[in-house]
Amino acid sequence: MKKQWYKDMVFYQIWPRSFKDGNGDGMGDLLGVYEKLDYIKSLGCDGIWFSPLYPSPGVDCGYDISDYMDIAQEFGGMDAFKKMLDGAHGRGMKVIMDLVVNHTSTQHEWFQKSRQRIDPYTDYYIWRPAKPNGKLPNNWDSLFEGKAWAWDEVRQEYYMHLFAIEQADLNMDNPLVREEVKKILRYWLDLGVDGFREDVITFISKPEGLPDDRLMPASKGIFMFNHGPHLHEYLEEFKRDVFSKYDCMILAEAPLVTPKKALEYIDEGNAPVLDMMIQFATQEADSFMTDYIHMPFNLRKLKRTYTKWQTELDGKGWNMLYIENHDHPRMVSRYGSEKFQKESAKMLAASYLFQKGTPFIYQGQEIGMTNWYPSDPEMYEDVQTRWQYFNVATKRSPEKRLQRLWHGSRDAARTPVQWDGGENAGFTTGKPWFYINENYKHINVADQEKDEHSVLNFYRRAVQLRKELSCVRHGNYQEYGKLSGTCYTYSREDENQKILVVCAFCEKQQKWKVPAGFDLDAAELVLRNYEKVDPSVLKPYETRVYLWKK
Ligand code: NOJ
Repeated sequence: MKKQWYKDMVFYQIWPRSFKDGNGDGMGDLLGVYEKLDYIKSLGCDGIWFSPLYPSPGVDCGYDISDYMDIAQEFGGMDAFKKMLDGAHGRGMKVIMDLVVNHTSTQHEWFQKSRQRIDPYTDYYIWRPAKPNGKLPNNWDSLFEGKAWAWDEVRQEYYMHLFAIEQADLNMDNPLVREEVKKILRYWLDLGVDGFREDVITFISKPEGLPDDRLMPASKGIFMFNHGPHLHEYLEEFKRDVFSKYDCMILAEAPLVTPKKALEYIDEGNAPVLDMMIQFATQEADSFMTDYIHMPFNLRKLKRTYTKWQTELDGKGWNMLYIENHDHPRMVSRYGSEKFQKESAKMLAASYLFQKGTPFIYQGQEIGMTNWYPSDPEMYEDVQTRWQYFNVATKRSPEKRLQRLWHGSRDAARTPVQWDGGENAGFTTGKPWFYINENYKHINVADQEKDEHSVLNFYRRAVQLRKELSCVRHGNYQEYGKLSGTCYTYSREDENQKILVVCAFCEKQQKWKVPAGFDLDAAELVLRNYEKVDPSVLKPYETRVYLWKK
């Protein structure tokens, strides 16, 4: 397989509003990031992915962009960005931006001109007239709010919005729009950024004629516009005209993608148009299709996903590894346990950090932040969450509906990072833009810095170990005890060494037998989350990494 710089890296994801406020206005910003670059580096992370930093009305917290060529004032503007970028590069870290081009904010100049039919913007978006029978142009649903169509009074037509009403879908079939995308890409690459995470990029090509979805009545549309007819062609064009001229990395968000489908884009032996894809399957071990349809956590489902991606991409494409991001509730509260917060946060880290691929750590994950449980639905900020509460499952009691949000809302992972036990968790000296999880007094960075056995220091050790061991980067992957519903065990092996990673996903103590062929007496226990280890027993959420040198 080809060697690219991102294959040896660990990335840290910053969701800027809630990372760190540097100027006291209550909103996270790039000054705050600049202050924390050494902290990020201290985790062993050598890359940062920024969720959108561009000017935006903030309907979808920045994923509704109104100007692609600037940095929002609230984040410190372009000067703060350049300072941060230099600071990151000076520390040997790469920086990737979010590229959101399935849609723009309706405040974007392109949309404002398009609705007035001012050329060349007239066909920048997906406009359709009203049907004579009063029906919408087709039966697709928006993923956030109601139907996928909104009426525009100015143009007297409907425009498509697969997300919020204020996020209008671009017409990527228009070559002028693709030229705009390339301009944006070149602008940021010339400025020095090292790549992009492409937001719902698999949605950008809609099928011709925008036919009704007749197959999937429950989720109208997604199977029609995901991986549309010209997607590969457009990605190829971006690669040919822009990416191939830079040493950059392209990571694509891809809802519902399978390894087989991913390989159509990332197979290194077959002119790949992307470097890695963000799959959603690891998020589905306690839900069905969406986080709002909550189900009991099923470890076998998670293990199947882990192993499927590890084995099916092996030798062909490169995995992007993650357990948390800004779109899903926190993992300790889902696949781990708040009662065993410390143990389960560490175990979850080991469950994915030793797999083959490039790991991403989402802000706050490294201290084991947990879900946020507001008492009132009005406290939620997220546009999707609010729609879910006020418009979906409305026949249920208010309590049941609120609980649905506790398990499903993205806001659970969007509360400010808990830096210390002082006022506002050390996030801001002003009034925080959002609520702070009340548990910051006992889950925070400052305390964990002082504690050798903290989740934070476990992450540091795990990342360091990952970097030291060649087998983690390039070795074979093998799973053991597939049928166990409470334990995940995998090994990685190359010509230099072998490791065995054991992860107990259970509040109860369980018996454990080393898989055949592994001699524990010859192994070194290089990572663990309990001080005392009994080789035949796994304590609640216990994890261990054994190493054999050859
Ligand atoms: C995926 C992003 O991760 C999410 O936060 C956003 O709301 C949607 N795409 C729409 O841009």
